[in-house]
Amino acid sequence: MSSSTAKSVETKPLLPAEPEEARKVPMQREELVVAVAPRSGHAEQFRALRNSLVALNPESAPRSIVLTSAAAGEGKTVATLNLALALAEMPGARVLVVDANLHQPSVESYLGLQRRQGLCDLLDGSCAPDRAIRQTSVDNVSVLGAGSLPNNPSVVLGSDRMKSLLATLKRQYSWVLIDTPEASSISDASMLGALVDGIILVVRLGETPRHLVEQTHNTLESLGGNVLGTCLTNARELD
Ligand SMILES: Nc1ncnc2c1ncn2[C@@H]1O[C@H](COP(=O)(O)OP(=O)(O)OP(=O)(O)O)[C@@H](O)[C@H]1O
Ligand SMILES: [Mg+2]
Repeated sequence: MSSSTAKSVETKPLLPAEPEEARKVPMQREELVVAVAPRSGHAEQFRALRNSLVALNPESAPRSIVLTSAAAGEGKTVATLNLALALAEMPGARVLVVDANLHQPSVESYLGLQRRQGLCDLLDGSCAPDRAIRQTSVDNVSVLGAGSLPNNPSVVLGSDRMKSLLATLKRQYSWVLIDTPEASSISDASMLGALVDGIILVVRLGETPRHLVEQTHNTLESLGGNVLGTCLTNARELD
């Protein structure tokens, strides 16, 4: 059986993160509407999604959430970051964004950061948590980048170490948001979905065929995931 070919990504050795490095980098990408256009209707859409999640969690228990989509490029990473920013507006919230897209990591790029050691280095023991997790320029939002990309992402993400890392992170953060690859062609999201409290399915309006969204939803649930709802994206529709 042939395995899918990962798109080209930075493969040179990564440095450990400097704890203060990301704190000084302002969020400037226009897609990060909750940071750069906080009064926009689009930012309000992410606050509405945040409010739905908070309503589903009346006891304010720590929650881990996977964001995925049926197809690639539907807006998962942008949605993950905007939701993180919206959650961080809640009093006392501590939010961690984890880049578990080990095929095409892009969380650091959207934040204007260099790729550094991260999730995979933490999992293989080559990096300490305080050199992998970075505080961003927004109070209470931290980021754990993908780190050094392995040849076998699904093995790494399905490992006992990953399960135990998720449990540890939930003791330290009130919300752990996990960005993943598309679920229709890569199994990582459905596997991670079974390890977390809930899944948000990101759907690009008007582009992804309905049957593919339904099929992905059913697959995520049949593999043990709890699909909490959808996040509809389409900049033209929402702005
Ligand atoms: N809310 C938004 N407003 C404007 N542009 C957006 C928005 N969401 C996504 N985009 C654009 O859509 C493209 C894909 O977004 P994003 O990287 O978030 O998708 P993705 O699902 O994470 O992709 P991949 O499957 O490669 O990880 C980018 O060019 C991004 O700028
Ligand atoms: Mg992405």
